[in-house]
Amino acid sequence: MYRTHNCGELRISDLNKKVTLSGWVHKSRDKGFMVWIDLRDRYGVSQLIFDEKRSSKDLIKNAKDLGREYVIQVTGKVIERSSKNTNIPTGEIEILVSDLKILNSSKVPPFTIENKTDGGEELRMKYRYLDIRRNSIKDKLIFRNKVSSEIRKYLNGLNFIDVETPCLIKSTPEGARDFIVPSRMNSGKFYALPQSPQTFKQLLMVGGLDRYFQIVKCFRDEDLRADRQPEFTQIDCEMSFVNQDDVLNTFEGLTKHLLKTIKNVKVDKFPRITYDNAIAKYGSDKPDIRFSMEFGELNSISQHKDFNIFNSAELVIGISVPKGNDFTRKEIDKYIAWVKRPQIGANGIVYVRCNEDGTYKSSVDKFYDQKDLANWAKTTNANKGDLILIMSGDKDNVRRQLGELRVEIGETLGLRNPNEFAPLWVTDFPLLKWDEESNSYHAMHHPFTSPKLDQIDLLKSNPGEVKANAYDLVLNGNEIGGGSIRIHDKNIQSLMFKNLGFSEKQAKEQFGFLMNAFEYGAPPHGGIALGLDRLVAILDGNESIKDYIAFPKNNSGKDIMIDAPSSISKDQLDELSLSLKK
Ligand code: AMO
Repeated sequence: MYRTHNCGELRISDLNKKVTLSGWVHKSRDKGFMVWIDLRDRYGVSQLIFDEKRSSKDLIKNAKDLGREYVIQVTGKVIERSSKNTNIPTGEIEILVSDLKILNSSKVPPFTIENKTDGGEELRMKYRYLDIRRNSIKDKLIFRNKVSSEIRKYLNGLNFIDVETPCLIKSTPEGARDFIVPSRMNSGKFYALPQSPQTFKQLLMVGGLDRYFQIVKCFRDEDLRADRQPEFTQIDCEMSFVNQDDVLNTFEGLTKHLLKTIKNVKVDKFPRITYDNAIAKYGSDKPDIRFSMEFGELNSISQHKDFNIFNSAELVIGISVPKGNDFTRKEIDKYIAWVKRPQIGANGIVYVRCNEDGTYKSSVDKFYDQKDLANWAKTTNANKGDLILIMSGDKDNVRRQLGELRVEIGETLGLRNPNEFAPLWVTDFPLLKWDEESNSYHAMHHPFTSPKLDQIDLLKSNPGEVKANAYDLVLNGNEIGGGSIRIHDKNIQSLMFKNLGFSEKQAKEQFGFLMNAFEYGAPPHGGIALGLDRLVAILDGNESIKDYIAFPKNNSGKDIMIDAPSSISKDQLDELSLSLKK
């Protein structure tokens, strides 16, 4: 038997027990006649003591020779510590070792296995298995498991069944590039890895399974960011005989359940806001509503004077920064410089200080009087002591720019509290978006998303205006999930493909299998997929998903530990009928 207990388990109530523990040598302190070792495993740390008076000379010598991260097994007696450590659960006891066995030695690790390690990102990624020994990574993986097992429990309880779908498939239309796998047996042919199981889950509904879920790997060849990995995990779901409300209520229920069981946070009914309203109020389709600072539209009360910048703008909008009048001129200038960076691309900011005495002081006092400024304050909900920041320009750009500034200010003012949870649904997304590059419409969500049925006629005359039965789940300013009610009617599906610029032949080639299936009694259906990595990270108060994935890719999409992607041999290339471009 390797152990009677784990390293996080023993307490003062176990005094005098004879125990056997196995684990890693975390730290050792050598006082000459006494040696202490912290023995670590997944569950915690227990202190071992080797004492010249109470142990044999050989044992002390062997203990002194142990290196960091050696794997050892010890047997001994649980005794009370003379100096207790109240910071750890095992801190009242130690084990007086009578027997020590080295199970494996270890090279000196390239960085310290501590919460605050001396290892840089690159080094820790190369030795990820050592990084996982650190609490800060290990705890995140344990947290992820807690979330995913609650999800399984909840969905199983609602009659969802877990069905696995294939990974070697044909391209799925989620809007990113595919990862491609050459087929040896079918020379010159390729599989694509799924960007999501979208088409399969719809086929499962045609297959009559009614409620499906899968916690599933998805693959997307796109640029990486803190909340994006090339392979990531979805909680993918589909339901038959449902309308939009049924899907939203079900997954609102799941999210509430997770917030309650995992975070002990109770949230009321999630607000629902249309896409158009989200953009108009927050300049984003994933608004962070932990703080207010909603946009006020100032066109009608700012374009009546000689200030050309506003007069020539399509849209003038402002936000009120709570207590922002405390900002120094230097701080305001910092935000002006921030929005002028190419990433944001704005021309500048007009500001109005709302003084405590009820007067206003603005950067455009030459053009506007106190009455004008008071109107602006009213429209942006600014109070005494606040600061109004105003931007102008063409509609889409200025909303995006002020939206980014809103989040930046929310962050600096500490309004984005990671322990607060503000979920919401964004609904009524546009069905299509115009793509300048290809000069054609693309599906905003994917081509199987149902348009609002009362807008079908508009699809022929003004496709850009058509709204979809599509929705996103947003949590703390992050897109956690997206889904839609699907088209189950073959004719509407053909019309949709036409709008997306597919010829009948192309549509058949790519999605013939789905269109065929729709001829055999497809039920009305809809669903959603939540990003598990993102959900777990946000629930744990983080926006970066990397450390919630055991073996993530770095920013260039590489796994530097296993050296992937890597070259393959000439033989392998030949076998796959591939050649490399010189
Ligand atoms: P969508 O493309 O919106 O929908 O994806 C669903 C959710 O998956 C997460 N996500 C990602 N997480 C990490 N890294 C990525 N690269 C990444 N890409 C997406 C996001 C996102 O909200 N088939 C549809 C769902 C449906 O219609 O039912 C789909 O995949 O949290």
